[in-house]
Amino acid sequence: MKKEIIVIDGPAASGKSTVAKLVAQKLNYKYIDSGAMYRCVALYKLENNLSIGQLLNNIEKIKIDFDNNNHVFLNDKDVSDLIRSTEVSKLVSEIAKISKIRAYLVSLQQSYGKEKGIVMDGRDIGSVVFPEAKVKIYQVASVETRAKRRFNELLDNGKSADYLEICNNIKKRDYDDMNREVSPLIKVDDAYELDTSNMSIDEVVNKIIEIFNEKVK
Ligand code: CDP
Repeated sequence: MKKEIIVIDGPAASGKSTVAKLVAQKLNYKYIDSGAMYRCVALYKLENNLSIGQLLNNIEKIKIDFDNNNHVFLNDKDVSDLIRSTEVSKLVSEIAKISKIRAYLVSLQQSYGKEKGIVMDGRDIGSVVFPEAKVKIYQVASVETRAKRRFNELLDNGKSADYLEICNNIKKRDYDDMNREVSPLIKVDDAYELDTSNMSIDEVVNKIIEIFNEKVK
């Protein structure tokens, strides 16, 4: 299988990571969740009780790794669950506005992509991290669909969930992500827009593989 870079960008909880994992599995590619990296930085700030200034001074102490089962490690500790907490979700878009933090994470993301054979999802992957990628998807869904998906995901994982709080967090993050100065969430011209509101996971995955096959010959 030819090694390429597949980019899936889009707003909060649009199902990017579920789909990206499955696409990576089918192609035998590596999956990198760039949002998890921003979440790790937010968690590091909370756990160490740092001001933004202290966080910036210590940014290079933050080591982020992914294993083959899509677990995320922050300085060698598995934080896959901790980074999904409401506290982290509330802080993360604030963290993602800061250009020094973005520059640090973008350079890590580009280093993961050196070998290609990678699926990466996020907000600025097609516009900033891998503008040269051949396959770019911009995945969207209605706010209600996204809030319902996130609500069910938390319940399925045995967590408590408040639908209204989730809905408000998604709307706020959409606004913050689309309106920030540095690398805002945008659909780049060469991205294929996929509205998944009325699509099953399998349908979305198959559509992306179809686009991949068309673009990469
Ligand atoms: O999974 P969900 O859509 O809730 O969000 P995520 O992908 O985990 O990303 C969390 C937050 O990180 C987003 O709301 C953005 O503020 C930020 N982010 C970003 O700025 N750039 C990226 N490439 C990925 C995430």
